[in-house]
Amino acid sequence: MKRDGRNKSFWQTLEGQNFSTDFTDLVFDTIIVGAGITGVTLAKKLQDSGVKCLLLDKENPGFGTTGGTTAHINNFYDASYDEIIANFGEQAARLLVNSTKDTLDHIKKNVLRYHINCDFEECDFFLFSAEESQNEQLDRILAAHQQLGLKTLPSNTLPFSLPFVKAIRIEGQAQFHPLKYLLGLLDAFGKNGGAILTNQSIVAYENKEGEITLKTSDERIFTAKNIVWATHIPPGRNRFDLLVAPYRSYALTLKLQHAPEMLAQTADLYDPYHYFRYHRTGDGYYLIAGGFDHRTGDERDTEKHFYDLKELVNKNFEYQEVTAQWSSQYYVSADGLPYIGRMPNEPNVYIATGYGGNGMTFGSMASLIIPDLLLNKETALAKLLSPARIKPIASAKSVLSEGWSASQHFIMDKLSADKIDAFENIPLEEGRIVKYEGKTFAVYRDEQAVLHCLSSVCPHMGCTVNWNPSEKSWDCPCHGSRFDIEGKLLNGPATSGLQEMDR
Ligand code: FES
Repeated sequence: MKRDGRNKSFWQTLEGQNFSTDFTDLVFDTIIVGAGITGVTLAKKLQDSGVKCLLLDKENPGFGTTGGTTAHINNFYDASYDEIIANFGEQAARLLVNSTKDTLDHIKKNVLRYHINCDFEECDFFLFSAEESQNEQLDRILAAHQQLGLKTLPSNTLPFSLPFVKAIRIEGQAQFHPLKYLLGLLDAFGKNGGAILTNQSIVAYENKEGEITLKTSDERIFTAKNIVWATHIPPGRNRFDLLVAPYRSYALTLKLQHAPEMLAQTADLYDPYHYFRYHRTGDGYYLIAGGFDHRTGDERDTEKHFYDLKELVNKNFEYQEVTAQWSSQYYVSADGLPYIGRMPNEPNVYIATGYGGNGMTFGSMASLIIPDLLLNKETALAKLLSPARIKPIASAKSVLSEGWSASQHFIMDKLSADKIDAFENIPLEEGRIVKYEGKTFAVYRDEQAVLHCLSSVCPHMGCTVNWNPSEKSWDCPCHGSRFDIEGKLLNGPATSGLQEMDR
């Protein structure tokens, strides 16, 4: 199965599945765009409730973050519960604890009901301080978990060979093979008559008088009452350009010689944090390690992030071999909680974004929120995660700093575009921003020394893209759109690729 990067993730050994595209229906209740964890889980949930929906993706299922996640299913979040209590109140935190439990139950029920063989395992998470200075933060998290009734206790041990000062053990986590899960759900959706259309872009879109009309690249015209953008930031320009910021995380899988003492997950409290989990498959045990995150497009030497991660792993673990390394994109919200629900001012448009590092849980939670909203039932959870919410105190710092970062890139990257002034200086399999005879190019030289010349201007809002050497992609630092070496769009919010340029 293909993914939005050059590196192959641990999960991509699966063969892609062919979906029948010969359905004749053109009219649906709901169109879901994006066949990742959010879109697929929602499609199956809606189908089970009798809603006729079309699932559409411009690539194959799992092409985006679901194919590059490390597939933690957790009952706590990057925004810790002490922060959630402080910013949203205890009642909201309790609601989230209960809804998260429902979400984990929903995933487990899907696995059992559709007999999905996806390495699903339940386990515990060990959160630890690596320095004395992090103890207070860990104590606050423990106190909040206990206040909210989460089964969390201090632990004197860590089932990972990592040095630590203090640790807590949080019960009730799970993990799986995300693409096996996704394909299992899709299989059930398809067998039950669900309409799936992959490898088709949207070439025209209109939302008029409560009806969505869209045309796909195979010239079909579909209509629906509602649309769900399960694509991270919805396409085009909208308020989420400011309310979520794109980040990249780095991951490795290492084949282990022996079974670990228990299947478990762990992370430290650095910012960005480093995370690890064991994974059991038919052929043995693996360690999945991740971290060294950064804002998309902000780092020129992305290979260094793999190097740092390997160094951390080599210092602490014994293993047979590295079996995969890859990076993946996620979106951080302004106030720490995701935006799931109705798009402000567009009552028939729904979005789900800003999951942070908790995509498997929040992506699945969307399927417990959006079906109710489609029936005009606004639950307390829908209110809490509403995309229309305004949380000035919690969000002010992040919104300002992320927005500042985007506008800074808009100006600075244009001023510093002439890093290289000759195409000849570009090494093989490298990309550079080149200023040449008054024009700016994003240029990649392939392994045959052929130059691929593109406009360096991101079609979303005009920022200058940056070269990502490890994934061989052009990444926009402003809102995270990404493009391959031919300029083809990999990730939105841009809706078209980089323009091809003649020298
Ligand atoms: Fe917004 Fe590039 S993603 S300008």
